[in-house]
Amino acid sequence: MRQLIAGNWKMFGLTAEAVAIATPLLEAGALTRDLLVCPPATQIALVSRLLAGSPVAVGGQDCHTETHGAHTGDISAPMLRDAGASYVILGHSERRQNHGETDSLVRAKTLAAVAAGLTPIVCVGESAEERQAGWETAVVGKQLNGSLPDDFAGIVAYEPVWAIGTGRTATEGDVAAMHLFIRQALVRRFGPAGEAMPILYGGSVRPSNAASLLAVPHVGGALVGGASLKASDFLDIARA
Ligand code: PGA
Repeated sequence: MRQLIAGNWKMFGLTAEAVAIATPLLEAGALTRDLLVCPPATQIALVSRLLAGSPVAVGGQDCHTETHGAHTGDISAPMLRDAGASYVILGHSERRQNHGETDSLVRAKTLAAVAAGLTPIVCVGESAEERQAGWETAVVGKQLNGSLPDDFAGIVAYEPVWAIGTGRTATEGDVAAMHLFIRQALVRRFGPAGEAMPILYGGSVRPSNAASLLAVPHVGGALVGGASLKASDFLDIARA
């Protein structure tokens, strides 16, 4: 299966910046990996129009559990879809930490995303303290159990919290062990469908380390933060 390189722009991207990041992706030419960009909500419609007709997909970074209603400041999955998104990142550690998102909330958002026709990318990952204590698989296993609905059909992203935005990438051995653990958990729960579910790695992916990370067994692609804000770096990762 083709690997997916997903760019998570986080809270970056005024209009001129969004245009500057997205436009060069139109000239990427044929790639062996699929590309996805997840701009801030304010730029999804613009970036979708810019990339229309290209193979680059667009996604959101979060959605509400409801389709509409009195939820000031929130954005629903059908709204993301309407703006041109086909994917949505859910349960990112920055949402879990800064917005108190629980596994059950992430599961409800995942159901809402699928109902709206979006492909969910559900993020899991342990903190530095949890890894130091040797709890990483217990933590990730619990997040998977709680965050994925029973009929899950989407993408999982393993993002160790200590590797996000730190320049400290997980070693290939750490990634291999965790991706195998996640694969086994997905197969136990979802049967043969679990064999094919992409598992992305995220956390300080750069052009310099992408080739080795993407070669690790059970790594189905990358979720890229900082390096996705520069089109040339993002494309170098896609070509790594
Ligand atoms: P990073 O972010 O690539 O800047 O470490 C990854 C992410 O948070 O998705």
